[in-house]
Amino acid sequence: MLEVTGLGSRYGRIPALADVSLHVRAGELVAIVGANGAGKTTLLRTVSGVQPKHGGTLRFDGVDIGRDTPRRRVQRGIVQVPEGRQVFGALSVEDNLWLGAFARGRAQAPRTLDAVFTMFPVLRDKRAEPAGNLSGGQQQMLALGRALMADPRLLLLDEPSMGLAPRLVAEIFNHIKALGARGTTILLVDQNARAALAIADRGYVMAAGRVVAEGTAADLLHDAQVQRAYLGH
Ligand SMILES: Nc1ncnc2c1ncn2[C@@H]1O[C@H](COP(=O)(O)OP(=O)(O)OP(=O)(O)O)[C@@H](O)[C@H]1O
Ligand SMILES: [Mg+2]
Repeated sequence: MLEVTGLGSRYGRIPALADVSLHVRAGELVAIVGANGAGKTTLLRTVSGVQPKHGGTLRFDGVDIGRDTPRRRVQRGIVQVPEGRQVFGALSVEDNLWLGAFARGRAQAPRTLDAVFTMFPVLRDKRAEPAGNLSGGQQQMLALGRALMADPRLLLLDEPSMGLAPRLVAEIFNHIKALGARGTTILLVDQNARAALAIADRGYVMAAGRVVAEGTAADLLHDAQVQRAYLGH
């Protein structure tokens, strides 16, 4: 579904990605792990188009999307949940969700809203409250729900577990796993490498803007070098 080949990106003259190649097949849940500053966020932002690329190609369903605007990519079904959630604190929970549908302009949005409320009942309970009143875990559910309102085919998740207590980390990852099981294709970035690989089919390890290891999630979880560097062994 997504094919990234030889991708580069930089901030001014500082390179952030160099020659990154990876792919995500339809229906897969693929995790990207790596230390602070490895380039994970830059990779997701380059795929969604909010960050320019410098060289390389991006293909989605076999189509070169490298010159598409971010909006066009959303319309194709590439939807990103940004690092730090970025919900609109002064707007109601429900209005935050509608903003997700607006990005794609869909007739079936009311039905999708109902599905999101079924998945995250707490969002239904608090639909009229300002999003800023929600806890961190609830805001992450809202950010996920907002992305689902855009009817994603490929969901790009950046650090969904960031800042959450361990119990909530498990809850969010369970939701992500369930989304994947229901057929949404997911590219998941998380510093919580063990939890991310535990729900993933395959994974890539990034360091200093490059892919340094790849394999099935199970292989990476059992790889001695990956364990030492990223899994706290
Ligand atoms: N806005 C920016 N301006 C300049 N340099 C940046 C900017 N954003 C990121 N960088 C640099 O680009 C590199 C990759 O950063 P990126 O945020 O993609 O890494 P990351 O793997 O997502 O890290 P983290 O785990 O901390 O989220 C780092 O060296 C970082 O310092
Ligand atoms: Mg990041």
